[in-house]
Amino acid sequence: MDALVLTAVKQMEVQETKKPTPKANEVLIESKYAGICGTDHALYNGLPGSAAAVPPIVLGHENSGIVAEVGADVVDFKVGDRVTVDPNIYCGKCFYCRTGRPELCDNLSAIGVTRNGGLEQYFTAPETQVYKVPDNVSLKAAATTEPISCAVHGVKLLKLTPYQKALVIGDGFMGQLFVQLLRAYGVHQVDFAGIIDEKLALNKEKFGVTNTFNTTRDQIPADYDVVIEAVGLPQTQEQAVNATVKGAQVLMFGVGKPNQEFKMNTYEVYQKQLTIQGSFINPNAFEDSLALLSSGKLDVLPLISNEPSLKDVPDYLDGTIKDVSKAVVKVGE
Ligand SMILES: NC(=O)c1ccc[n+]([C@@H]2O[C@H](COP(=O)([O-])OP(=O)(O)OC[C@H]3O[C@@H](n4cnc5c(N)ncnc54)[C@H](O)[C@@H]3O)[C@@H](O)[C@H]2O)c1
Ligand SMILES: [Zn+2]
Ligand SMILES: [Zn+2]
Repeated sequence: MDALVLTAVKQMEVQETKKPTPKANEVLIESKYAGICGTDHALYNGLPGSAAAVPPIVLGHENSGIVAEVGADVVDFKVGDRVTVDPNIYCGKCFYCRTGRPELCDNLSAIGVTRNGGLEQYFTAPETQVYKVPDNVSLKAAATTEPISCAVHGVKLLKLTPYQKALVIGDGFMGQLFVQLLRAYGVHQVDFAGIIDEKLALNKEKFGVTNTFNTTRDQIPADYDVVIEAVGLPQTQEQAVNATVKGAQVLMFGVGKPNQEFKMNTYEVYQKQLTIQGSFINPNAFEDSLALLSSGKLDVLPLISNEPSLKDVPDYLDGTIKDVSKAVVKVGE
């Protein structure tokens, strides 16, 4: 079978490899689609994602496919099931796992990061990580269940109520997911800030955004009960905190550089009683994400801009191909 192997930092090639055999508690999946995100860019460049990837390894933590074989002890899946995989595997034994915060696990491992993922024709996953995809959700859309789940986790860390006015900063795939999610969670107004006018317009026309701001020329008013920062730059982090009203919550979702800092008026944190909330990966969120896709409250297909094949992926990770909104790789036939 074909596998796209990260053989060393910044080196990747399609290799002919042996189809894996599932262990007793594992499912063998014929991979159909695999999304590429910032984590894959980091891993390709030798930086850690949620965990570190040690070559040789097959990336593809965002994926979907069809069950091809099940291990001897697997009872909940059968050959032919359409599935997607939660990549993050928590140890269940550490302090964080045992206090109900598995995303902070000291021994995190992940499919497509520390063990082979969906950028090969067949890959295995423990059955505990596998979710059936509802019939009315395409496998292409289902390959985005993992990033949707990151956004769902972020939203679950906030207290959302209908009176709130929300602002999303960042017009990438994640920011656009947050626009739809906040509407789905009942926030009555969602405004949107980015730098790409077409994306701002699309979200106004199609996804119920009220006001848009192009941060290269517009001033953002201090008007928001909920602000989601989905860029990860110091200036947008500063803009996020400055856009708040009293009692506001700021979700710091964007990933900055490890040594990054931004300027914040700490008196305002006190006086406005702000909540500055971080968000890391996506525990216990796959069922919510699949339900949001199945109910039509989330529409991800218009946000997927590129559908490369396995051999094209290095061009996406080394920056040869630019201005990609969201690439979802079509794996195999
Ligand atoms: N916390 C988590 O668990 C988690 C999960 C997934 C992604 N992320 C992070 O979320 C961020 C967004 O992810 P993405 O996949 O959408 O990334 P992306 O690179 O596709 O999008 C970033 C977007 O930010 C926009 N942008 C750049 N400068 C801006 C500015 N000054 N003002 C407004 N918008 C600006 C760009 O136009 C781009 O569309 C990244 O930092 C990513 O690492 C975090
Ligand atoms: Zn990802
Ligand atoms: Zn743990």
